[in-house]
Amino acid sequence: MNVLGIETSCDETAVAIVAGGRRILANVVASQVELHALYGGVVPEIASRQHTQALIPTLDEALASAGLDLGGIEAIAATFGPGLSGALLVGWNFAKALAWSLSLPLVSVNHLEGHIYAAWLESDQPPRFPALALIVSGGHSDIVLMAAHGRYRRLGETVDDAAGEAFDKVARLLGLGFPGGPAVDRLAAESGPATLKLPRARLDRPYDFSFSGLKTKVRELVRSGADAAPSAGELAAAFQESVVDSLVSKALQAAAEHGAGEIILVGGVAANSALRRELAARSPLPVVVPPPALCTDNGAMIAACGWQRLQRAQTAGLDADINPGLRIG
Ligand code: KG4
Ligand code: ZN
Repeated sequence: MNVLGIETSCDETAVAIVAGGRRILANVVASQVELHALYGGVVPEIASRQHTQALIPTLDEALASAGLDLGGIEAIAATFGPGLSGALLVGWNFAKALAWSLSLPLVSVNHLEGHIYAAWLESDQPPRFPALALIVSGGHSDIVLMAAHGRYRRLGETVDDAAGEAFDKVARLLGLGFPGGPAVDRLAAESGPATLKLPRARLDRPYDFSFSGLKTKVRELVRSGADAAPSAGELAAAFQESVVDSLVSKALQAAAEHGAGEIILVGGVAANSALRRELAARSPLPVVVPPPALCTDNGAMIAACGWQRLQRAQTAGLDADINPGLRIG
């Protein structure tokens, strides 16, 4: 079954076609990054307007790349939350209009659940439940135990900045531009292992995260102006090492406590080279990490998750609304 996946929760207009929940026939992402970089971050109103302009050309490109026309699509899946309201509204209503005009089933997909399903795209390995998912993106840092398809329990979350948000803010402090994650990743790699040690937050709940103290520490060091102040490279490496260590340590501890069969690393920050390397090196369990292009926002993950929901007959009505504050687990 060919599912069309539509993702517009933030600044990527993404349309994909996935067969049988796993095989990618097309995966097109129209990025707005250059536009938002002018403002140093995502401007919600601009994102919505760009989605309006980009959706039809992106759909056309996806169909052409799969060698299909709309007659070859059997269901429509789209993100309905969490995300920017205006951006979600554009994609969700586009999906509804398509489903209505083509008389196809419509499936609403939680963006975070979508990120999880990127883990099993293009693979023959069935999920080894319970799976421990570390979902790290621009808006979320969640540790989620997935007992079965559709069954989630959130074990931890960020109490302040999400991991990606922290990367973006630290990149701005270091003058690296937007989006910051890839820039910090590159600079840290050039700079080599961190010599400076930055603090790890101590929290009441073992699987929660906090990154804002770390960001404040970087800001103090950048602004200290002292002759001996660390370089941007040293700061990038030390910041990244601290974030990666917190994420990996907590994910491993949660996986051990809950008897996980595998660890899934997903979301935009899962594209980080140090995080991928460190988790693979330290985990006694199988680690499943999508290729970087499937870690950041895309339509294939939405189609894959939508297909799985369809197997459980979880379709949405044509009157269904978006849910910008939706959570997982
Ligand atoms: O999942 P995503 O594409 O969008 C959201 O759902 O938020 O994640 C975007 C986030 C941004 O904060 C971006 O800086 C971060 O993922 N990111 C990275 C890397 N690539 C993207 N963070 C660290 N290292 C990377 N290589
Ligand atoms: Zn995302």
